[in-house]
Amino acid sequence: MEPAHGPGDALDRAVIFIGPPGAGKGTQAKELARLYGVPHLSSGDMFREHVSRGTPLGLKAKPIMDRGDLVPDAIVLEMIEDRIARPDCRHGFVIDGFPRTAAQAERLSELLEHHGMGKPVVIHFVIDRGLLMRRLTGRRMCSVGGEIYNIYDRPSKVPGRCDNDGGALIQRYDDSEEVIGPRLKAYDQQTAPLVAYYRRQSVLRDVDAAAGVEEVTRRVMKILRNAR
Ligand code: AP5
Repeated sequence: MEPAHGPGDALDRAVIFIGPPGAGKGTQAKELARLYGVPHLSSGDMFREHVSRGTPLGLKAKPIMDRGDLVPDAIVLEMIEDRIARPDCRHGFVIDGFPRTAAQAERLSELLEHHGMGKPVVIHFVIDRGLLMRRLTGRRMCSVGGEIYNIYDRPSKVPGRCDNDGGALIQRYDDSEEVIGPRLKAYDQQTAPLVAYYRRQSVLRDVDAAAGVEEVTRRVMKILRNAR
């Protein structure tokens, strides 16, 4: 596959999105992957697909996700290692929702080295807690193609229907107010320390994620251009 698209050059690296639930990682990762013509890897989407297919992995993950806890590293790592090993990741990829723990970050570094991919760019989504609640409770997802909407800020043209494929828009179970609290706690305790880990490696860039979707995309692309 020819990797160079919209921005006029190839990505040729792993781009990692880190930030709290609802910061806009999935929205931006989809757009960036489309612009650069590289795969978008989302551990959350992968788990949700397993859950909807009722696979053994999905059955294990569902109660954990419904509580807002993190799925154990061993399960996550097996799934992600298989995906990164596929040839379509060789020209780079955008990954969101992974890594989320120190063990996952260490393993990802090993994997990138193993596949000859060099240092990643880690984009840290910085955003106020107050905005997160609005984004999470207002989120709706297409049940067919996974497109992300928001009833407050990014509504679909026809209420309840996806603009792309007409699929029904659904609310994620873990976007209920009682699960958002534990998800934020898991982020603060287990994932936020990775910001310092990547900053020490000089690969981390902060992006102010409070602006509108298009503006955040512009900011992320500027960071990527400057990181070359
Ligand atoms: P996961 O699916 O990864 O969820 P998350 O990290 O909590 O992130 P979200 O998907 O909630 O938010 P996002 O930042 O992608 O925001 P989005 O772009 O959708 O994980 C779910 C669960 O799976 C975890 O709790 C865990 O159990 C398990 N799991 C997954 N990975 C794991 C791992 N590595 N290890 C262990 N367990 C794991 O945007 C949110 C809303 O805001 C949308 O409505 C969108 O339209 C809107 N929006 C986005 N950007 C903007 C903007 N700029 N302006 C206005 N609105 C915007």
